[in-house]
Amino acid sequence: MKTGNGTRLFINEVATRDGFQMESRFIPTDDKIALVDRLSGLGYAKIEVTSFTSAKAIPALRDGEQVMQRIARRPGVVYTALVPNVRGAKRALESRIDEFNIVMSASETHNLANLRMTREQSFAQLTGVIALAKQAGVPVNVSLSCVFGCPMEGEVPLAQVQGLIDRFAALEVQGITLCDTTGMAYPTQVRDICEAVISSKPAMEWTAHFHNTRGMGLVNTVAAVEVGIRRLDMSLGGIGGCPYAPGATGNVATEDVVHMLQCMGYDTGMDLAGLIAAAGELEALVQHDLPAQVSRAGHRLTRHAPPPDFNDIAARARERGHAPKELHQ
Ligand code: COA
Ligand code: ZN
Repeated sequence: MKTGNGTRLFINEVATRDGFQMESRFIPTDDKIALVDRLSGLGYAKIEVTSFTSAKAIPALRDGEQVMQRIARRPGVVYTALVPNVRGAKRALESRIDEFNIVMSASETHNLANLRMTREQSFAQLTGVIALAKQAGVPVNVSLSCVFGCPMEGEVPLAQVQGLIDRFAALEVQGITLCDTTGMAYPTQVRDICEAVISSKPAMEWTAHFHNTRGMGLVNTVAAVEVGIRRLDMSLGGIGGCPYAPGATGNVATEDVVHMLQCMGYDTGMDLAGLIAAAGELEALVQHDLPAQVSRAGHRLTRHAPPPDFNDIAARARERGHAPKELHQ
């Protein structure tokens, strides 16, 4: 049964940011650029190219400017990057960014661990970034980490999340991403939180960002889409994770999510065969197995040859008549 009925969903790729920030091997700048250029042709609404963070905090993305400046911009694709502070925003502007993806956590402990600021200090920095964005005419999306739980604090009260959403909405940001930083979300919680925040700010561009740390990423994606989320972050091959969140593992894999949503009748705009081919290149780049499954198994209608002695098996079965003897006893 097709429940999607052609509903348009907008797919954001985060492998070159959320993915590469977690890789121990430094991915050469030219390879990063070639990957973004390849992904640009596959139907994404948005690509999170890199981050403009401190090179000490995220050495893997220390080449943010070069990557951002040298990628080929395809019309219709938004090229965004993660920005934690005003310093990062200035670097991003010089690199001709299409959108600031500003970041802070709904959890005080994760905010301190990841960004070395209290949430109030982060909010003050990000208020400065939003002011800069307004002057420059650049849209702002807020990625809120640990919306569905914090690996150090446990449950994060919805009131805490909603409080931050209200403050960012008052600053007229374009979008907010609800991030499940370490795969703590579960489907009924996803439904409740997404419903609550969407009804509180229906005009906001909402995005969901799931990690598959506990195997619930795909089912959480369905829960989010069924209550009206139309924008989804995901990572080719399922790489990713926040280096400052204990136990973090990869995002939901783009090829797995796109395959599922296409089967269900949603219009993702994505080229699945192209994604699977690109995942092969990514595997060579990161030099380890990818957690994604569809790039290994193929589309659900991938047809495999029967066993080599199939004709003999079939002939013997037919000779036996309609049913094996035992059934007549
Ligand atoms: N880009 C580049 N360099 C930056 C920077 C930025 N956006 N912000 C700060 N720096 C530099 C400073 O210039 C300073 O450099 P120096 O030591 O050579 O003088 C150094 O980083 C420390 O600056 P400070 O302002 O004290 O920052 P901090 O050490 O308190 O770190 C952050 C704050 C936000 C910059 C850092 O924690 C960070 O980049 N975190 C990102 C984490 C992340 O991306 N996690 C995964 C995604 S959720
Ligand atoms: Zn993430």
